Amino acid sequence: MKHLIDPMDLSLEELDEVLELGEEIYEHPEKYADLAKGKKIATLFYEPSTRTRLSFESAMLDLGGNVIGFSSASDSSVSKGESVEDTVRTVGCFADVIAMRHPNEGAPKLASMMSPVPIINAGDGGHNHPTQTLTDLLTIRKEKGKLDHMTVGLCGDLKFGRTVHSLIKAMSRYHGVKFVLISPKELRVPEYIISDVIEPAGLSYEEVESLEDNIGKLDILYMTRVQRERFFNEADYVRLKDTYILDKKKMKMAKEDMIILHPLPRVNEISPSVDDDPRACYFRQVKYGKFVRMALICKLLGLVPWKQSEEE
Ligand code: NCD
Repeated sequence: MKHLIDPMDLSLEELDEVLELGEEIYEHPEKYADLAKGKKIATLFYEPSTRTRLSFESAMLDLGGNVIGFSSASDSSVSKGESVEDTVRTVGCFADVIAMRHPNEGAPKLASMMSPVPIINAGDGGHNHPTQTLTDLLTIRKEKGKLDHMTVGLCGDLKFGRTVHSLIKAMSRYHGVKFVLISPKELRVPEYIISDVIEPAGLSYEEVESLEDNIGKLDILYMTRVQRERFFNEADYVRLKDTYILDKKKMKMAKEDMIILHPLPRVNEISPSVDDDPRACYFRQVKYGKFVRMALICKLLGLVPWKQSEEE
């Protein structure tokens, strides 16, 4: 049984399969409308979510399956003191696959050790968010036609942003990727991302503070929200929250074909005046997210004859 806890849990080949299938479902959703008939996903969300939970639920519904779950810890037996392990052993009696979001780093991993069904990490604290990464990769593939040889700027809260950590891990596997890490000093990527991910991959990177000075060289700009809920004090959050605001003026300095991604929710970091710019991909990104989750569910449940043509 396979779980998806960290983006590196998928081999490059498996990752390509999921992205390819995501693209195929995007093109021909009707062919997949009954594939998961009789199957259930449980969404166990111990932390708030709009896109991720509804995207998983829509993905399963659009595959003809069903959905159970809870959207806050207070709605579940967690409020009575139940452990994550006991919860998944219970829910695993009802559902075929579980998507779990938890404020504690490592909670989905712990759950996967006890779970009778595949666990998908839908975000664990400031650590990882592998299905947002699948969403980001499918978006880049659809919008840029490739995943290699690009300069990727990640801007904002690179310290606590789990989507940033997972995306860097995944993109480090592609040739010729350069990272421009744009953040205030206090919100730089954790050291292990540099020493255990970017450097061993032999990729080039720079850590900078100015968005204006660097936007012109980017092929992709990945904007992020300052993660208020992970700050120790409100004063620091208030001081840092508006460090970067992408607006029309800054977009004039960007390449004509640069794409803007954002995992959403946005707070102030992208002015709504940028939304009409064809380079703004963040709402299209939400759409791609559902299709790639459909592909992932198919893969984890063994619903698609993978690489059928090669095996025949
Ligand atoms: C992200 C998350 O939860 O980490 N949102 C999402 O899943 N699309 C980003 C964020 O909350 O800032």
